[in-house]
Amino acid sequence: MRLKDCHGFSDFRELARRRLPSPIFNYIDGAADDEITYERNTKSFEDCDLVPNVLRGVEEVDMSVTIMGQKLEMPIYCSPTALQRVFHHQGEYAVAAAADKFGTMFGVSSLGTVSLSEVREQYSGPQCYQFYFHKDRGLNQAMLENAKTAGVDVMMLTVDTITGGNRERDLRTGFSIPFKLNLGGIFQFGVKPMWALNYLTHKKFSLPQLDDFVDMSDGPLAISKYFTDMLDPCINWDDVAKMVDYWDGQFCLKGIMSVEDAKKAVEIGCTGIVISNHGGRQLDGSRSSFDQLSEIVDAVGDQIDVIMDSGIQRGSHVLKALSLGAKAVGGGRFYLYALAAAGQPGVEKALELMRLEIERDMRLMGAGSISELTRGNLRFR
Ligand code: LAC
Repeated sequence: MRLKDCHGFSDFRELARRRLPSPIFNYIDGAADDEITYERNTKSFEDCDLVPNVLRGVEEVDMSVTIMGQKLEMPIYCSPTALQRVFHHQGEYAVAAAADKFGTMFGVSSLGTVSLSEVREQYSGPQCYQFYFHKDRGLNQAMLENAKTAGVDVMMLTVDTITGGNRERDLRTGFSIPFKLNLGGIFQFGVKPMWALNYLTHKKFSLPQLDDFVDMSDGPLAISKYFTDMLDPCINWDDVAKMVDYWDGQFCLKGIMSVEDAKKAVEIGCTGIVISNHGGRQLDGSRSSFDQLSEIVDAVGDQIDVIMDSGIQRGSHVLKALSLGAKAVGGGRFYLYALAAAGQPGVEKALELMRLEIERDMRLMGAGSISELTRGNLRFR
C-alpha cells in the first residue's frame, strides 16, 4: 500500500498503521478510557442529514472563511498537535508547508518538535500557537513572549488538560517521549525499519518550546505525566483574563464544551472558542463537539467566532458543522495519519481530498459560498 492508494481518511490511517511502530500509531489512534467519546465524535454527524437544494447553477465554489481575523481558503485547518517529528521526520515543517499551499491555518503545539519561531520565519500563512498553561509561571511568560516575538497570529490556549486523560493504549504499549530505540525497544515495539532509519538519521528529538524547562533526567516522559506534573491544575478564569490582556490580539480557548464557559470566554475578551473534547483523548463520556455546537452558537455565535474540532473525517462533516453555525472546523488525525504515512506529500493529499470533498458536496448542496449553508440545509432524525 502506498500514498497513491489513499483515497480517504481510513486509507491514510491504514498506511500510517503499517508504517509506524505500534506504540506511536496507537498514541495517535487512541483516546481515553473506553474511547466512547472518540467514537461518538464522528458518529454524532450521522444524527442529522444534509438537505440539498438543486438547480441553483453553482459554477464557482468559494469555500473561504474568516476566523479571528485570518482568511482561510478552506474552512478546515490543521489543528495543532504534539510530537509530529516522531510520526514523520519532516514533522511540523511538512504540515506548515502543506497548510500554506492550501491557504489554511496550522498550529505549532507547546509540545511541538520544531521551534515556533523557525516555522514562522518560513511560512507566512495563518499560524496559531497551542499553549499549555504550566505550573511554572516563568515558563508561561517566556512562551508568551516568544510567541509575540515570533508574530504568531492566534493564541490558542488549551483548557481541557489540567490532568492527563487515561490513555490505556499508551499504558499497554509503554509509549513515552523521547521514543527509545534501544535493542529491547526495537523488539518490544516491533519497530518498522524505514521509520527507524528516518528517526535515527534525522535531527534528534527535541521539544524546542519546552526544552529548557522539562526535566527528562529520570528517563522518557509519558504524555499523561507531562499533563499531570507540569500543567497547572489551578488555572482559572482570572489567569486566562490576564493572559488575554497581555496578549492583546486574537485569543482563542480550545476545549470549551458548555454554554456557561462560552459566555465567560466572551466576557474576558476572547475572540474565538474551539468546542472540543481533545479528540476524545481527555474526558471519556464527554459529549461530542458536534452535539454541543448548536446551543453554543445560539448563545454566543454573534459575539465570538465559534469553531469546533474532534471527529471530523469527511467533507460532509465540515458542511454539517458549518450549516449548524460553526465558522470553521479543526482536524487533527485527518492530517496526522497522512503525515505518518507519507510526510508532506501525504498531508497535501489529505488536504486536497478534503478540499475536493467540500467543493463537490457544496455543489451538490447548491451552495456556492459558505454563507449559503444554513440550518435549513440540515434535518435531525
Ligand atoms: C495529546 C496532547 C499532547 O492529546 O495534545 O496527546
